[in-house]
Amino acid sequence: MNKVIFDTDIGIDDAMALLFLHYAPEVELQAIVSGFGNADIATTTRNALYIKERFGIDAPVYRGAGEALGPKLGDGYPDFVHGSNGLGDIELPEPTVSTEAMPGPDAIVEIVRNDPNEISVVAVGRLTNLALALERCPELPTLVRDIVIMGGAFGFNGHRGNVSPVAEANIAGDPLAADRVFAAGWPLTIVGLDVTHETVIDEAFLADLRQVSGDAGEFIHAIAGCYLDFHERVTGERAFPVHDSSAVACLLQPNLYTTIDAVVRVATEGVAIGQTVAGDPAADYATDAWRGRPACKVCTHVDGASVLDLYRRTLALAGN
Ligand code: BDR
Ligand code: CA
Repeated sequence: MNKVIFDTDIGIDDAMALLFLHYAPEVELQAIVSGFGNADIATTTRNALYIKERFGIDAPVYRGAGEALGPKLGDGYPDFVHGSNGLGDIELPEPTVSTEAMPGPDAIVEIVRNDPNEISVVAVGRLTNLALALERCPELPTLVRDIVIMGGAFGFNGHRGNVSPVAEANIAGDPLAADRVFAAGWPLTIVGLDVTHETVIDEAFLADLRQVSGDAGEFIHAIAGCYLDFHERVTGERAFPVHDSSAVACLLQPNLYTTIDAVVRVATEGVAIGQTVAGDPAADYATDAWRGRPACKVCTHVDGASVLDLYRRTLALAGN
């Protein structure tokens, strides 16, 4: 059984990943921690509560960080990708359920401390909540079971950046937090654009999901229209890469991903702000910037067809 904390800036693809976790039989969702990113913190938190209520998710929702720890790339929120309400501008009744009183970073620390070596963290937004949790509890990396993050881009398979030529949105949205998280020494796997762009959902997949996944399929089909429109404007095709659900797939079936061990730094200023740069842990570089850093696992390749199959089979359980 996987006990999971989901740290998320809900967001269309975040919503799809949350339902993936919810319907995965081997997952016991412990908490949903919101963060700013795809929309402001009030909006992403409301979206978490909305999905919790609509789909009967037991896990509590904790409100997380509302701003970056340091300089970031760009201002505002990507309403042109996720809609102004973060969920494709579908009609959203106000949820009647509420957040817990404890702030998100504190909740991460408490849940992990109460269940040492049992908790997996899946983080698919800015890494601000995790950096704050590390400040409160520096031994956190020795207490988690594992951690999978969606973020970054290393150039494998030709994928480098989606908010600049070299930077991915989650990392560029709080580079300092990401650099701290990658330095902390936990069993951490990075699922970047290198592999998320190698797993693609198209309209036929969404239509099938709508048939087999009951209300979850209906909801995903409704919110995804806006996401398809955005990607069609960029690539000319009505299809999108599977970002946040890839982190869930990597947790559930790591065998679908090829990884390398790497020491990872993040550019925290300048023209390349938000770039993730992987170093060889054994190399003796002329700079100290990578020296002595703990290694992370960086995903380089994926069996995308099997990831899609896992997603479909899991969501089909919602239709039973
Ligand atoms: C990441 O940025 C966000 O817009 C998505 O939810 C995903 O986590 C992709 O770069
Ligand atoms: Ca996200």
